[in-house]
Parts: sequence; C-alpha cells; structure tokens
Amino acid sequence: MKKTIKAAAALLLSGLLAFSFAGCQQQETGAGDSTQSSVAESGAASEETSQDASEAADTEESSIDRIKAAGKIIMSTNAEFEPFEYMDGTDIVGIDVDISKKIAEKLGVELQINNTSFDALTAELASGKCDFVAAGMSKDPTREESVDFSDPYFSATQSIIVLKDSDIKSSEDLAGKTIGVQLGTTGDQYCTENVEGADVQRMNKAVDAVSDLIAGRLDAVVVDNFPAKKLVANNSDKIMMLDEALTGEEYCIAVPKGDTELLDLINETLQEMEESGELDEIVGNYMSEE
Ligand code: ARG
Repeated sequence: MKKTIKAAAALLLSGLLAFSFAGCQQQETGAGDSTQSSVAESGAASEETSQDASEAADTEESSIDRIKAAGKIIMSTNAEFEPFEYMDGTDIVGIDVDISKKIAEKLGVELQINNTSFDALTAELASGKCDFVAAGMSKDPTREESVDFSDPYFSATQSIIVLKDSDIKSSEDLAGKTIGVQLGTTGDQYCTENVEGADVQRMNKAVDAVSDLIAGRLDAVVVDNFPAKKLVANNSDKIMMLDEALTGEEYCIAVPKGDTELLDLINETLQEMEESGELDEIVGNYMSEE
C-alpha cells in the first residue's frame, strides 16, 4: 500500500517512475472503478460541490462555515467493504455511513456520499473533492503525509482467507503463493512488503479476489478481518478464514491536512457515540446480520 499511495502522490506531483508503477497495476487489475456519486438521504449530487470544496481549500474560509453554507458535507468512500460500507441495492450503507450521518447531523447539513476506488481516496481528499473520507481506512504514516486522521474508532487486523482444503495454515505458508488483495490497502502493503516471493494480485474489489480464490486462480486472499468474516459467511461451504492476526490497525476518519476545525468536530462526534454506546450498537447491528 505504501508503494501505491506513494505512487498516487508522486503521480500527482511529477513522477514518471510512479506513472509506470501505477500503470502496471492498472493492467494487472483491469480498469479502475468508475467514480460514481450517490446521495444518501435526499438531495441531488452536483458537480459544483467539488469545485466549491477545492476553491475553499485555497482560501482561509472556515471549512465548517463553508459546509454549513453549502448545506451538505461530502464523504468519500469505497463501498466494497461490508460491514463498513457496501451497496444495498442502490444505497450505500454500513458502519461508516452511520457515523458519517451523525457528523452531518451535528453540523445540521445533508450527507452526500461519493463512491470511488479505494486507492483514489486520499488523493480525492487532498484535491478537495470531498470533505472527509470514512472507509475503514487504517491510520498509516504514509497516508499521514497527505491527510490528517481522527481518533481511532475501530481496531482491526489483516486476515487470511483460503479454500477449505488449502494447505496454507498460517502466514508462513503464504511464501511464494499467489495472493489476492484490494489495491492500495494495508493488506496489499502487508503482502507486498512481508511475504517472500509472493505473486500479489491487486484487485479493485476484495469480493473479486474471493471469486478468483474459489475459481482456483489464487491461493489466498488477505483482507481486513471484519470484511473477511462477511466474505466467508457468504461462501462458507468453500472458504474459511484463518485465526491468525497479521497486523494491528486502527480505523480513523481522514480530513484534509490542517483542517483541525472539522477534525475536532469529527472527534467530538466519535467520542459522543462511544460514550453513549451508540457506536457499539451500530457495529452490533451490522455484525449480527450474518
Ligand atoms: N483498512 C484497510 C486499509 O486502510 C482496508 C480498507 C478498505 N476500505 C474500503 N472501503 N474498501 O487499507
């Protein structure tokens, strides 16, 4: 992930090298997800919004004043990560969506959700296309170079999914194997940096990696533990999740670098939700649906 995030950043700035690296990944994984906008609750998506956001980033105007004046706050995510964000028909739902609704509510504005590929999220935030990112995104030093993170709201780890009859029993058995990950995630980063001789296949969606695993094109999939549980629950006759925790990660909400005003409001919202037990309740709702 470090590499891909850096590649994205470098690509924006100048890097030819980064261009070829990102280009490779595009070929490996097929075309990137097309960005689609969707509006939670009511109201229409508007192209002007992204302009508004980037214009304001150039000025000294308070982000909260601007959001209130616009009457909406824009959250970007990648709705391929059940139970945190996923499609329910044409709606984007999940734990992060419920948290984001609380943030919008606190500001008294509407929530607009922009659904895009995961590896594009930090760049979207940096370019002012959205106000914040809620995407089960793990706090990470490389990402922190371009965004600011809220207090953590969830602890997670990377998990290994294999076919039920697989001879892969632990992370040690991953060496030299073909492993599917979601492009630009910490799972991508873990496999790229830690697994000897692995052929890391970077997909836009973890669910596609699981399909490839079931079809015999991959030996394993490495993905966050809660989404892994959901993916396994949907195919429990064929695949299983190993118990081993590969990493220790914390999910945080990302805001543009230096936007302490919005960051404070988000931290306040998270703290209130934690103290009232609402956060646990939301997590419980989405996790008990198995
Ligand atoms: N926690 C992992 C990361 O930060 C994966 C997040 C993927 N999120 C998503 N909405 N697809 O890299």
